Amino acid sequence: MSRATPAIGGCEIICDDPHELSRHAAQWFADTANARSGTVRISLSGGSTPKELYSLLAHDPLRARIPWDRLEFFWGDERFVPHDDPASNYRMAVDSFLSSVPVAAERIHPMPVDGTPEDAAIRYEATLQRIYGRDALDRTRPFFDIMLLGIGDDGHTASLIPGEPVLEERKRWVAAVPAGRAEPRITLTYPTIESSRSIAFLATGAAKSAAVKGARNGDAHFPAGRVKPHGEVIWFLDRAAAGQT
Ligand code: 6PG
Repeated sequence: MSRATPAIGGCEIICDDPHELSRHAAQWFADTANARSGTVRISLSGGSTPKELYSLLAHDPLRARIPWDRLEFFWGDERFVPHDDPASNYRMAVDSFLSSVPVAAERIHPMPVDGTPEDAAIRYEATLQRIYGRDALDRTRPFFDIMLLGIGDDGHTASLIPGEPVLEERKRWVAAVPAGRAEPRITLTYPTIESSRSIAFLATGAAKSAAVKGARNGDAHFPAGRVKPHGEVIWFLDRAAAGQT
């Protein structure tokens, strides 16, 4: 049985297991998308946690409820590998749901993975600014309606990785992260992530409980704890990630 309670670092929904978490997060996604008018801009998380959530969106009953023609998709970060590489966050989302829902190709904006990571980051930033209509984020006009984020057991989120210079980047919208993981990354920076009406963190497993607790307390040791959201934050946790087992 899950419960939603206001808590430090935003509302939390604690679920018995990862499957229940995925069901609740998918339902929240559909409800939030339907509640928004006009275009609903969504930033997708990579990693393994959101896979089941994504798959639920592509199947009824949720598939029939979601206003697909109003949704526009972006990514919070990407591994700098070809889009058909098994490590690609774009490929994971396409395989999990985007290939089987009615979203026009021009409303799906993968992070580029050609050229150099630095050049690709500049191009993605230009795409975001073109869509936003300005080259400066306005706190009163969030770019994203829904920002889905994971968290690592070291407290990283997107590719905001401990010890990396990108943690100090407050001007660029998108940055390259050349080191820090198996392959170079591209990531939204804090200002861009924070430009969201709703941020949903998804975390399962006891290995993440310390990072979740630290991040929710705003501990800057954990990059996720440095996110200063402009809108609502919801933590979808299983009991293990919530430190309840
Ligand atoms: C990525 C993600 C990353 C991920 C966390 C959690 O590209 O890997 O953006 O930030 O969300 O590492 O990953 P899991 O869901 O696989 O635990």
